[in-house]
Amino acid sequence: MIRELFYKHVAQTSDAPLGLEITGAQGVYLIDTTGKQYIDLISGISVSNVGHCNPRVVKAICDQALQYSHILVYGENIYKPQVHLAKKLAEICGEGLDVVYFVNSGSEAVEGAIKLAKRYTGRPNVISFNNAYHGSTHLCLSLMHNNSMNRAYRPLVPGIQHFSFNQYSVLDSINDHVAAVIVEPVQGEAGAVPADNNFLLMLRQKCDETGTLLIFDEVQTGIGRTGTFFAFQSYQVKPDILVSAKALGGGMPLGAFISSVQIMNCLAVNPPLGHITTFGGHPVSCSAALAAIQVIEEDKLLERVFVCEAQFRKALVHPEILQISGKGLLLAVHLSDESKVKKVIKSCLEQGLVTDWFLFNDKALRIAPPLCISDEEIQKSCEIILQSLSAL
Ligand SMILES: Cc1ncc(COP(=O)(O)O)c(C=O)c1O
Repeated sequence: MIRELFYKHVAQTSDAPLGLEITGAQGVYLIDTTGKQYIDLISGISVSNVGHCNPRVVKAICDQALQYSHILVYGENIYKPQVHLAKKLAEICGEGLDVVYFVNSGSEAVEGAIKLAKRYTGRPNVISFNNAYHGSTHLCLSLMHNNSMNRAYRPLVPGIQHFSFNQYSVLDSINDHVAAVIVEPVQGEAGAVPADNNFLLMLRQKCDETGTLLIFDEVQTGIGRTGTFFAFQSYQVKPDILVSAKALGGGMPLGAFISSVQIMNCLAVNPPLGHITTFGGHPVSCSAALAAIQVIEEDKLLERVFVCEAQFRKALVHPEILQISGKGLLLAVHLSDESKVKKVIKSCLEQGLVTDWFLFNDKALRIAPPLCISDEEIQKSCEIILQSLSAL
């Protein structure tokens, strides 16, 4: 019954939704209407880093909802959870990334970051990379190189050039007409492809020479997923603007773009209100975010990420696996073709394991579980994947 209503009244994004009927979620498990439990190996997607319904996050949400939720559009009033979260993020990111603009989602955070860069530099152009995914709004689709996804929405936002990721050919095109270079430190939807440290160093150097702002989109890599709080902390490169969302809100909707006071201040004057959002930095989302960060610290989840990565890499050895790419718990298991990936995903689902392919790489399986996944849950997940591969 509810399935029919879903197809009838809820707008569909594809003709093949996963379609699980979820009644509960705890830790790494999703539970459907039949009581069947699934290990969530994708964290829906890269969101549930501290696990589903983490009790400390749930408590923070309830406590805050009982005090106040929405009062007024972002930026007008002083809310304790928002201020404390901004301070915490500033401490984590350090000097130069110590002023936070809160929004609702990854796409909006990318929009805000690009607007900020154009406004601060007064320049028209932006550089992004092939196989990057920055979101689904009109600007974000324009940042996307993949024509099959943005063709229908032309004309796109002008002034955007795309270059190959990890290739130095981009450097000659970073000049004083370019407001920003936006890059993911690990390209998520390309199939978990990490940037080379030297590539990011060269981008940093060329941006410094030309006065171009370097933006890191850490919507997917942030909040511990790659083993440091933000991925930039594992590289020797710091961006001018950092974009976060997804796991930031501990399961609640929240995004942010983070920069220096000098850069960020330009949104507030001549004219003011450079970016406006009603719900950005919602007090309940910020309370959840603070609790989630506390969980990551108290439970030492960053250290666990590397242990878990090693366990997945050690266990997932099979003649069908060509390679495992990625960093921390943003991993991709590469197979030889798309149909094998689809079969493995289906077989895993039947055996109680949710995995997925990547938007721009359908030959790879996604491994991005909650960071609190246990040794036994990793072992069980790998057994199911290996069995599914052997049955191909
Ligand atoms: C790297 C990256 N940037 C931006 C986005 C867009 O985030 P949202 O879906 O919250 O708009 C995503 C979403 O998958 C992402 O992976």
